[in-house]
Amino acid sequence: MKLHLVFISLLLVFFVGCQLPSNTTNSDANQSNQTQDTNGGNDNTNNTHSTTGDSHNEDGGDNNNHDEDNTNGDNNTTTGGTTTTPSGKYTLLAWNDLGMHCMDGSEFSVFTILPPYNNLNAQLIKKDGTSNKHVASGVILTYESYVYNGHTNTISSTKTNFWDYITSLFPGSQSIPDVGLTGNKTPSFTPQKMSYNATNKWFEATAIPIINRDDNNATNYYPVVKVTAKDTTGTILATARIVLPVSDEMNCAKCHASNQGSADAKPLSGWENNANAIKDYKLNILKLHDQNHPISATDLQTLHTKGYDYNSSLYNTVQSGTPVLCAACHSSNALGTASVGNAQPLTVALHSKHASVIDPSNGMRLNDSKNRNACYSCHPGSTTQCLRGAMGDAKDANGNLIMQCQSCHGTLSDVGNSSRIGWKDEPNCQACHQNGQRYTSALQNGTLRSAADRRFATNPDTPEAGVSMYRFSTGHGKLQCSACHGSTHAIFPTRHSADNLQSIDLQGHAGTIAECTACHTTMPNTTSNGPHGMHTIGQNWVSRHQDVAEHNSAQCKVCHGSNYRGSVLSKTFAARTLQIEHGTKSFAKGHMVSCYDCHNGPNP
Ligand code: HEC
Ligand code: HEC
Ligand code: HEC
Ligand code: HEC
Ligand code: HEC
Ligand code: HEC
Ligand code: HEC
Ligand code: HEC
Ligand code: HEC
Repeated sequence: MKLHLVFISLLLVFFVGCQLPSNTTNSDANQSNQTQDTNGGNDNTNNTHSTTGDSHNEDGGDNNNHDEDNTNGDNNTTTGGTTTTPSGKYTLLAWNDLGMHCMDGSEFSVFTILPPYNNLNAQLIKKDGTSNKHVASGVILTYESYVYNGHTNTISSTKTNFWDYITSLFPGSQSIPDVGLTGNKTPSFTPQKMSYNATNKWFEATAIPIINRDDNNATNYYPVVKVTAKDTTGTILATARIVLPVSDEMNCAKCHASNQGSADAKPLSGWENNANAIKDYKLNILKLHDQNHPISATDLQTLHTKGYDYNSSLYNTVQSGTPVLCAACHSSNALGTASVGNAQPLTVALHSKHASVIDPSNGMRLNDSKNRNACYSCHPGSTTQCLRGAMGDAKDANGNLIMQCQSCHGTLSDVGNSSRIGWKDEPNCQACHQNGQRYTSALQNGTLRSAADRRFATNPDTPEAGVSMYRFSTGHGKLQCSACHGSTHAIFPTRHSADNLQSIDLQGHAGTIAECTACHTTMPNTTSNGPHGMHTIGQNWVSRHQDVAEHNSAQCKVCHGSNYRGSVLSKTFAARTLQIEHGTKSFAKGHMVSCYDCHNGPNP
């Protein structure tokens, strides 16, 4: 769920101006001609990506129909004038900042927890060389709708009443249909410009108002957009296809719907019984809130000063035509609001209050559940299934899911603990990925496990002192973690085929962007300067590793295992066929490379 207007204030947004000195392109070309490719020639990790998009569909094991994909033409789009196939000299990596954006959907007349607000980020790199690869200026990046699996999603204003209420929900905002809270537009077939954020060193379009219904009104939680990088002459440098996930599956109605809801949630004044199912549960919630927390005269005064035209009660406020923003009183680091009076942060109020509530579907307290379904009561959700990536989808031998929301976040009362800072104190990767281990719970004795080693760690004090957030951290080559791994809850590979498009386009297979040649024209020659300390991949490493290993094969253990017989950290990213002294050696994708595969252990 989510959005975080607050970060906007931290992010200085610069619009990329657009003078590409023509000699930049020339020197580029020269460089690549001059590059001495002493290594890359034989390596067989190459080549799938050079045909980006033209020769392969999204066939990463998903069984969805692929109908729309081919017809839409990957790179040679019809929009925007000049059409050229990317030169193959650039790699564009794009991602949505969160694995799922939650919002109030079609109905904003009663109350809003979250508005439509998707953030799109991208980094563009030159493939040539191993330094100065980032391209920050002299280019124009745009996003546009991309038809995927039959879903066309090019307009939002016809699918929600958000723009009827935007100005009363967000005092100071403007109502321009299909324009979001920071001025960016709903994706359409007209490409929209992205801007460059110099602080985070990425291109971005924030607060894109996209809705989880396609243009035929079918459910579309995973709409796809195409991002295009062009130089100033209009030549396409690179493209990327990514998902802007969005869902309104916030199932408060499960307990707050009139009559069908939970008896404990029935307002003293009785159920609302509104014919509109969404208004119905929302009005029931306001009645309950009013009964427990009448608005004080002081708080009402403060709200008026802030531009909120509220009444003596939340229910009456709505009856007089003004919808309620929960974060108007309850501070939210997602929306950047401060609390009024003694209202607790919204995340604290909601999670702690509901920890003791009984889930009618299983009779358990929400807090006692160790299962994601407890969280899916309000987060999207049993249909959307936003937790769909490498961790969310991991299963044991019996096919049972290994990790749940609670494995990383703890219980509802842990999330609602008032000592946490909502939206900032979040779990991280190193809590489980450390010391060659992959723990299945991020918590140890109720708190986040500290990192024994930082090979797979998020950056400290990022984006501000005291927090260490994945979505702001950078790793290999100053790329964002998300550029190679995707966004939280959708860490590559994911169960949803659209999430895997970019990886398949760039390297021919789903999963982490791992193939060196997805980003390097020639295979870099290195013992440990690849991602997380990775060496060169492929034939030239087979030829070269003996010199390195002879001096210190102990350094290989961290990934190849303490007994050198392979570990999860030495799995091949794709199938490989390598020449060894007497013939060839073939590894299937995912084979854990052992030092015994080709010769008798580490010291043959
Ligand atoms: C599993 C059932 C369940 C779900 C799902 C649920 N609620 Fe509740 N909620 C309750 C119950 C029961 C109460 C009353 C608890 C009490 O008074 O002790 C309640 C109380 C509330 C209150 C009143 C709190 C107060 O003290 O004033 C609010 C506000 C509220 N819920 C909002 C929501 C919202 C928003 C959602 C969806 C995002 C939601 N609830 C989802 C069961 C649920
Ligand atoms: C006019 C200000 C105001 C607005 C608007 C408002 N709240 Fe509250 N809310 C309060 C105050 C004050 C309290 C009592 C202090 C507290 O627990 O945060 C409260 C309490 C709660 C509680 C109970 C917390 C607990 O631990 O018992 C929940 C849940 C809650 N609010 C949810 C919501 C939701 C959801 C919305 C939007 C539909 C909302 N509030 C809108 C002021 C407000
Ligand atoms: C009763 C409804 C409800 C349930 C149940 C619920 N959430 Fe939430 N959660 C919300 C809402 C609403 C927000 C958005 C709050 C905001 O905008 O600040 C939220 C926000 C969050 C956040 C981001 C804010 C923060 O504090 O960092 C996290 C993390 C989170 N939920 C985790 C969980 C997990 C894990 C579970 C299950 C153990 C869960 N939630 C169950 C309603 C719920
Ligand atoms: C709760 C513990 C936990 C946390 C937190 C966690 N992981 Fe994992 N991760 C695992 C486990 C366990 C596996 C092995 C899953 C399996 O058996 O399929 C795994 C697998 C992976 C894989 C391998 C996927 C594949 O199949 O190739 C990647 C990549 C990964 N995690 C990245 C991350 C990133 C990035 C983060 C932080 C955003 C993270 N993990 C956070 C436990 C965790
Ligand atoms: C493998 C670990 C893991 C699991 C499982 C997991 N989360 Fe998260 N979650 C994270 C991490 C890590 C972050 C912080 C990302 C960051 O720093 O940018 C996060 C952040 C969040 C946020 C804040 C907004 C955002 O997306 O960054 C919400 C809301 C949230 N999680 C809800 C959930 C819910 C609900 C579930 C279960 C359906 C769940 N999470 C399962 C690791 C996990
Ligand atoms: C240039 C691409 C790239 C970047 C940037 C990157 N990684 Fe990775 N990451 C990889 C590769 C390649 C692997 C190993 C392949 C795999 O496990 O899927 C990996 C694996 C991981 C794993 C799983 C380890 C395991 O047990 O399999 C975690 C966790 C992880 N990275 C976290 C991060 C974090 C945190 C960042 C940012 C600080 C980051 N990565 C940045 C490429 C990258
Ligand atoms: C997703 C893109 C991406 C992938 C995949 C990738 N790299 Fe890089 N690599 C970069 C970028 C970007 C830089 C340079 C950043 C800069 O301009 O300083 C870089 C720099 C390097 C450097 C120079 C680093 C230094 O510290 O001097 C080496 C060596 C390197 N990469 C090796 C590898 C190897 C080996 C692999 C595969 C195992 C790999 N890279 C995979 C993007 C990538
Ligand atoms: C950061 C983790 C890591 C470290 C450290 C590491 N390896 Fe590897 N190694 C891998 C992975 C992952 C693969 C599989 C790459 C692939 O083919 O996709 C691999 C593959 C290999 C291969 C087969 C060639 C290939 O590209 O598949 C050889 C040989 C090898 N490693 C030797 C070594 C030696 C010798 C050392 C120590 C000097 C070492 N490795 C250290 C992760 C590591
Ligand atoms: C893909 C096959 C392959 C794998 C996997 C592999 N090697 Fe090798 N290794 C070779 C080849 C080929 C040679 C050169 C011919 C020989 O001596 O057998 C070699 C030679 C060596 C030598 C030099 C031996 C000498 O007599 O000069 C060392 C040391 C070595 N490897 C260490 C390792 C270690 C450590 C690992 C695991 C991390 C490893 N190798 C994994 C293929 C492999």
